[in-house]
Amino acid sequence: TILVLDFGSQYTHLITRRLRELNIYSEMLPCTQKIADLPFTPKGVILSGGPYSVYAPDAPHVDPAVFDLDVPILGICYGLQELAWHHGKDVLAGEKREYGHAALQLEKHVGSEAHVSKLFEGLPDDMDVWMSHGDKLGRLPDGFVTVATSANSSFAGIAHERKEYYGVQFHPEVTHTPRGVDLLRNFAAGICKARQDWTMASFVDKEIIRIRALVGEKGQCIGAVSGGVDSTVAAKLMQKAIGDRFHAVMVDNGVLRKNEAATVEKTLTAGLGINLTVLDRSSLFLDRLAGVTDPEKKRKIIGNTFYEVFQTEADKIAKEAENTPNAGKIEWFLQGTLYPDVIESISFKGPSATIKTHHNVGGLPEKMSLKLIEPLRELFKDEVRELGTSLGIPEDLVWRHPFPGPGIAIRIIGEVTPEKVRIVQEADLIFIEEIRRAGLYRKISQAFAALFEGKAVGVVGDQRLHGHIVGLRAVQTSDFMTADAFEFEWKVLREVRNRIGNEVGGVARVFYEISSKPPATIELE
Ligand code: XMP
Repeated sequence: TILVLDFGSQYTHLITRRLRELNIYSEMLPCTQKIADLPFTPKGVILSGGPYSVYAPDAPHVDPAVFDLDVPILGICYGLQELAWHHGKDVLAGEKREYGHAALQLEKHVGSEAHVSKLFEGLPDDMDVWMSHGDKLGRLPDGFVTVATSANSSFAGIAHERKEYYGVQFHPEVTHTPRGVDLLRNFAAGICKARQDWTMASFVDKEIIRIRALVGEKGQCIGAVSGGVDSTVAAKLMQKAIGDRFHAVMVDNGVLRKNEAATVEKTLTAGLGINLTVLDRSSLFLDRLAGVTDPEKKRKIIGNTFYEVFQTEADKIAKEAENTPNAGKIEWFLQGTLYPDVIESISFKGPSATIKTHHNVGGLPEKMSLKLIEPLRELFKDEVRELGTSLGIPEDLVWRHPFPGPGIAIRIIGEVTPEKVRIVQEADLIFIEEIRRAGLYRKISQAFAALFEGKAVGVVGDQRLHGHIVGLRAVQTSDFMTADAFEFEWKVLREVRNRIGNEVGGVARVFYEISSKPPATIELE
């Protein structure tokens, strides 16, 4: 195990991610972790970056016992300052901000002796690195030598080769440092001799043990599932860990995709053995949406109605739970938060970084005074997919496009009516079927049908038809922050148009949206 001590840099999780990519097991703990309380003996320690200055009175510091572990240590950015500071309190030159690309040169001599640090073994003499720091080292701490420099920093890389302590001013964990992963391999696999045998299966085992320890022998947990990959993977992990003491709830809000509730029910219960309750509340939601045209109001109505329905059901399940032998109260709430959500909501309070939880279910656990359990919070989307596959979740579900919480209510411009919902559901199903048939589903990040306000004229046979106007949208994106419209071959769109005309009653026109994001967004409202 490599121990990563977190000083609150937004990049810290990337260190553990890069180590996972190298099949090396790591644990990330707060920088304030007491070394005597460590539940394992690490083969090496990485001190992360952080937004502080080691001189500041409230700056966080590692437990000095880390230096008695007698294992290699790598300090990154703030971690380098911290490492140096423990070897002499006067090592910093003070503030010197640097942000962006820098050219790194390896130092190939110590005095007159030829020497390349083990940390940089096999790496080129010049390499591109990413800098993001506030403080700068002013002198070498005792026993250290310079092993790399950059134009702005004579101490971009330092080493105490006998103790195997290393420090780098740049961030090897970000992709802007292209050879950074080789440096991390040199440290973890080379210098620390950590084994490269970690797999997703070991993540599952470890997570199950962690969940069982948290929840206890009798504890129970509740969570909402949507049919998307994140909530399904999280639910399957819970089911594996605590069986039926995990209660999944799915609310059919009337603005889901066609047949969604039934399909999810079948996959999750019969397929995955999850203890699931499906609540059909479509009329309640559609009644409340009647006459509402403002997109934010629609979102609010759907959100609030969801909490109401969920809470009522949770109370019911909690009552039943009290009467179940060998089961305790429901104290836990499952949330499928991923690491990118965590980064978005990181904030710093006091000496150590606190991470605010990302509420994609709007503060529900607090209102219900439940404790949060977030088994996916260290993972990125592609890792969640890999995990889903290793848990036996069907490929179709694992690779499913994301679907917004307010569903097709925000894909119907203007008022939501049952008739409009039907048209969007049917058109959407045809669009997705044709995308799959053309082998494009995985190439496209998100695709859907939508409905414009008003009607347009068309002809069906000899009749003029005043019919609805369907919009189709398909985008390619890596992060959903920016996106490009997908460039279909004409014949695919033509087939979709023909089928919508023939199979979905009441549609006069079909448009394909060509805007990228920005200036447009992915959804229409
Ligand atoms: P936009 O439209 O902002 O969408 O470009 C980016 C991503 O977010 C999804 N989205 C939502 N998801 N509730 C959600 O759960 C919402 O209100 C919402 N609005 C947009 C959208 O589907 C896309 O994946």
